[in-house]
Amino acid sequence: MKLAIVGATGLVGGQMLKVVEELQLAFDELLLVASARSAGKQMEFMGKSYTVVTLEQAVEARPDIAIFSAGGSTSLKWAPKFAEVGCFVVDNSSAWRMDPSKKLVVPEINASELTADDKIIANPNCSTIQMVLALTKLRERYGIKRIVVSTYQSVTGSGKKAVDQMMSERAGETPDMCYPHKIDMNVLPHIDVFQENGYTKEEMKMILETKKIFSDDSIAVTATTVRIPTMGGHSESINVEFNEDFTLAEVRELIENTPGVVLEDDPQNNVYPMPLNAHNRNEVFVGRLRRDESQPNTLNMWCVADNLRKGAATNAVQIAQHLVDAGFVS
Ligand code: A2P
Repeated sequence: MKLAIVGATGLVGGQMLKVVEELQLAFDELLLVASARSAGKQMEFMGKSYTVVTLEQAVEARPDIAIFSAGGSTSLKWAPKFAEVGCFVVDNSSAWRMDPSKKLVVPEINASELTADDKIIANPNCSTIQMVLALTKLRERYGIKRIVVSTYQSVTGSGKKAVDQMMSERAGETPDMCYPHKIDMNVLPHIDVFQENGYTKEEMKMILETKKIFSDDSIAVTATTVRIPTMGGHSESINVEFNEDFTLAEVRELIENTPGVVLEDDPQNNVYPMPLNAHNRNEVFVGRLRRDESQPNTLNMWCVADNLRKGAATNAVQIAQHLVDAGFVS
């Protein structure tokens, strides 16, 4: 299998490489791809040195699978060129997610829908992935009527420039600004750009992508997405109203039996998910399970995952692994 990592020099690209190694995605040849600025640079990976190549060179090399994390415009322009030479593209940007002809995949939920003809496959938004994975077994059992979600998102989700801004602020230096405001010692109720309806694009991604992944337009979703000065992962307060009633014991059991999800729910002993613990982990952590006593059939939960892992790299590498396991790539 010839594998290309597009955006290999970036924050998510770096995680992609770590996850390829950790999850042992087997490849015969590896292409590390970045912009012309980085082409020719040497990168070390699993004890070998690789020369970073351009997108043109990568297409010429005809990879079997290319995992893209180099921004939406790069994906829009280049994913079709890779697909044309028979390559499967797993794209981490938002470029193809809502295209009706492209599948939006969280492997544990809907990888079985993929066929050999799905040459461009979209990786969902980081905040959406962890939420839908936490809810998938509950949805199967009780049906979901409505979700109200508020997020507490890591600066790593905005790339290296955001991490640098926060660290410069902490060091008392003059930061190169990524956000419109100071981020350290602050909370920004603003992720991605504001839309005409008053929601941000990030909020609309959570709303629209959830319906698409669950193939159910009847699920009502509303979201408030917030940036906080933390690093290890995104946290979410999820209030979910089911069609049917539940018991907390069964909810616990369903979450424990969801692949890729870990229940961390022992508040008496101060055990609940936190970004510090989720950092560098591939799983989604769920806790603070409790009944919403203000209305029937409704549950509150707290969900944390490393946004660069299951929210991006891990999910993309798992899709690539599925393509291999399904026999689409040999
Ligand atoms: P480069 O390092 O050469 O700029 P991040 O999300 O951390 O900012 O990383 C973005 C990644 O996408 C980097 O690997 C970056 O490469 C790559 N990238 C950005 N723009 C392009 C482009 N036009 N063509 C190819 N790679 C790109």
